Amino acid sequence: MRIILLGPPGAGKGTQAAFIKEHFAIPQISTGDMLRAAVKAGTPLGIEAKSVMEAGQLVSDALIINLVKERLTESDCQQGYLFDGFPRTIPQADALKDAAVSIGFVLEIDVPAEEIVTRISGRRVHEASGRVYHTTFNPPKVEGKDDVTGEDLILREDDKEETVRKRLDVYQQQTRPLIDYYSAWAANGSQDAPQYRKISGLGSVDEIRQRILDALK
Ligand code: AP5
Ligand code: ZN
Repeated sequence: MRIILLGPPGAGKGTQAAFIKEHFAIPQISTGDMLRAAVKAGTPLGIEAKSVMEAGQLVSDALIINLVKERLTESDCQQGYLFDGFPRTIPQADALKDAAVSIGFVLEIDVPAEEIVTRISGRRVHEASGRVYHTTFNPPKVEGKDDVTGEDLILREDDKEETVRKRLDVYQQQTRPLIDYYSAWAANGSQDAPQYRKISGLGSVDEIRQRILDALK
């Protein structure tokens, strides 16, 4: 099973990816998590990506395409995978198409902008694993601590209000066109076309998980 999760910043891609990867026993490939790990480790990629991410802009297509290509050669990707945050430009989607990677489902999580701001402002993350919480809607068992490791939760560098607004703009300009790209491809009936599913991302985390499981049947 190969799946692409599409949706704006704060739609709940990372939250739902945690369930989907367990359910289908496939790895989650989150380019955002991979970039944050590179920034933390201070690798050449991380050094290049840091200021771009903090400004709410997208890292260059060439860097991302290389990063994903390398990741796909790893042994855990042979039975499928879940893309979270990739592709997010037309050139990235074209690169995937050119590599003849056949995608089973493109799943769009639709969430209105007002809700996104509320979600992102309460987000807390466990840096090492990428596990995501919300102070009100998805709180950890112990305040400020990761459920699994007990380590501290942090605020993401790019979750400042001004940066979030920029990320939403960038989404509209550069990533939203992928909705048409994939829904048109799915509708043209060609053999290699993915199935396109759109679900509402409003409701509780559990309700959305159920919608996703139904959509992927
Ligand atoms: P990335 O990490 O991919 O960020 P994003 O797409 O902006 O998405 P988010 O992680 O902010 O949101 P999410 O949809 O995962 O929501 P979450 O589950 O956390 O990218 C970061 C940066 O890296 C980019 O800006 C760019 O610079 C760079 N980058 C990454 N990939 C790239 C690429 N392919 N090309 C170029 N650059 C790239 O949920 C959000 C909050 O809501 C949480 O607090 C959660 O607990 C809460 N929540 C979730 N579901 C619900 C619910 N149902 N009800 C209430 N609250 C909920
Ligand atoms: Zn995420």
